[in-house]
Amino acid sequence: MKELSLHILDITTNSINAGANKIEIKVEIDTNENYFRINIKDNGKGISKNIQQQVMNPFYTTRKIRNVGLGIPLLKAAAEQCEGFLKIQSVENVGTEVIAEFKNSHIDRAPLGKIEESILTILNFNEKFDLIYIHDVNGKRFVFDTREIKEILGEVDIKTPKILMWIKEYIRENIDKI
Ligand SMILES: Nc1ncnc2c1ncn2[C@@H]1O[C@H](COP(=O)(O)OP(=O)(O)OP(=O)(O)O)[C@@H](O)[C@H]1O
Ligand SMILES: [Mg+2]
Repeated sequence: MKELSLHILDITTNSINAGANKIEIKVEIDTNENYFRINIKDNGKGISKNIQQQVMNPFYTTRKIRNVGLGIPLLKAAAEQCEGFLKIQSVENVGTEVIAEFKNSHIDRAPLGKIEESILTILNFNEKFDLIYIHDVNGKRFVFDTREIKEILGEVDIKTPKILMWIKEYIRENIDKI
């Protein structure tokens, strides 16, 4: 059973590879409506209509090194196993949104896990982009936005180890508070 934060890392890596410079990750948990929803939205190059169906297939990839692409099919399988679904909405040259929904109480729903570590890994990628992470539990929200952090940091690089450590603890503490 793979932690959902690792799936989030995989899907966000696709956004970076698609040249996105703004990525929004949203985790929404509603215990009354009984869903656990992951939403990853980017402004990358998008996926053309006829390819959108194919990316659900493990043998579709635009990778050059190996010819299977598993990021999307694995998350789709995990969601469907939990009476949920995966949906992709994408417009070429505008961006892509991947929505994965799980039945929250399903026994097979993996835990979110260490989302702060996935975010740190994402922040460590070399490309320049803004990342917004929204964590919502029954309408109680925590929002982490690198645009705000960068404004405070000024010239200081967000990838400075001390800053990254602070971000990691900041995210963990705030999620735990909800
Ligand atoms: N956000 C996105 N923007 C543009 N294209 C995307 C996006 N996400 C996926 N794709 C396209 O869909 C393909 C399949 O994605 P998927 O994550 O399933 O596999 P992969 O990234 O190719 O390989 P893996 O995830 O196993 O490393 C990608 O190769 C890419 O062409
Ligand atoms: Mg991928």
